[in-house]
Amino acid sequence: MEPTTVRSRMVNRIQHMVSHAIIKDRRFLDDEQLIRSEQMAVLEEIFNANVRDAEIQELSSHFAGVLRGDHPCHMAIWGKTGTGKTLTLRFFLNLLSEMAAADHVPLRHEHLDFSTPRPCFRALNDLACLFNASKLYKKGISLEELMLRIEAALASYQGYLILFIDEVDNVRRDRDAFLSFLVRRLPQRIPAKLILVFVSNRLNWPDHLDPRVKSFLKLNELIFKPYDAVDLQHILSIRVEKALIPGAVEPGVIEKIAALASQDHGDARQAVALLAKGAYLAEKAGGNITLGLLDSAATELDRDRYVALLRSAPVQLQAAMASVIEASRRAKGAAIGTGETYDAYQKFCNRSGLRKMTGRAFGDLLAELDMYSLIRSRILSRGRYGRTREITLDVSDEVIEKLSANINVNFDLRG
Ligand SMILES: Nc1ncnc2c1ncn2[C@@H]1O[C@H](COP(=O)(O)OP(=O)(O)OP(=O)(O)O)[C@@H](O)[C@H]1O
Ligand SMILES: [Mg+2]
Repeated sequence: MEPTTVRSRMVNRIQHMVSHAIIKDRRFLDDEQLIRSEQMAVLEEIFNANVRDAEIQELSSHFAGVLRGDHPCHMAIWGKTGTGKTLTLRFFLNLLSEMAAADHVPLRHEHLDFSTPRPCFRALNDLACLFNASKLYKKGISLEELMLRIEAALASYQGYLILFIDEVDNVRRDRDAFLSFLVRRLPQRIPAKLILVFVSNRLNWPDHLDPRVKSFLKLNELIFKPYDAVDLQHILSIRVEKALIPGAVEPGVIEKIAALASQDHGDARQAVALLAKGAYLAEKAGGNITLGLLDSAATELDRDRYVALLRSAPVQLQAAMASVIEASRRAKGAAIGTGETYDAYQKFCNRSGLRKMTGRAFGDLLAELDMYSLIRSRILSRGRYGRTREITLDVSDEVIEKLSANINVNFDLRG
């Protein structure tokens, strides 16, 4: 090979990437980057193709009363993650407000987005911010004060008010106080016709409600089914058309992604992520998205997911994972017990200066790793020697390498 300079290698690489670009608009592979109006335009095309038709029909019947001067009851919507609840609701409510406006019916809708867990205080504060009734506080203001401000901000609005409360189960502390305010107190104190729409991906979230709130809460329920392969094909085709140059996707690719995603979970977010990953890998390799490439894309996506999961996990959980990896390495792949793992954990703490937890607390960490499917642990009985736990890693070697490297960086350790 000719000796090359860094400059020429860089130029070559960049030229290669530019001339083999198959992505013409990256934003359509990543919803976070799409602005509202663009997202709505994409959606309209998809919904025109009868995707989520049953759900939209249900929503239409429920809210029809708004245009006749009735007051529809509240609504609870449930469906697994990535089944389009958030998008469908946003789309539907936008359309509904357009119709109401055309009929001169005063209607206002707000989206309260609890995509991360928060206490009642934060939830009320977010609600107050929606109505410009408050700024964001860390503390120093009481729940009562926030409630009063929300009520004051709505004191003169007489129309319909639809509050779309997304991922309501994420209100973690004092959820009853929050819901009791929305369900019992607020409707009494403001002139608006309030309609609450609760959305969650947990089926049983209302089970734990305070019975006093529950008895007040008249709900109409709607369930979003997982997407089937045909729906996912629609969703993916539109992404392909908007994001990629013509011919970038080989025959069968969309069908395969849709089939994989619908068997697994019916999660459109995963399906779009797989397409996006495929596109990046194809571009890097300087070709089209082929069926073969999808397998590596799926593997990489898996790896990314675990890494992201662990990166945002508490340090003790990361340390526990590091100890399981370390102990398994020493056992050369054989199953390991709690004792060896706890030893490895103590060594890890010594090296990294982390506070050591007790054996019992460490057991809880292992249970948590099990819950995330990073490890598998089962109890074995050894007759009169009592019982022991057998632990094995439950992810591929590639994922383990990546996790281990990440943990070392996080703790400033050398691998
Ligand atoms: N009908 C659709 N048309 C186009 N894309 C869709 C559709 N439904 C879902 N998606 C894709 O899946 C992603 C997830 O959809 P959405 O946020 O509506 O799911 P969700 O049911 O609210 O999930 P979660 O319970 O996790 O909040 C979207 O960002 C989009 O990429
Ligand atoms: Mg959502």
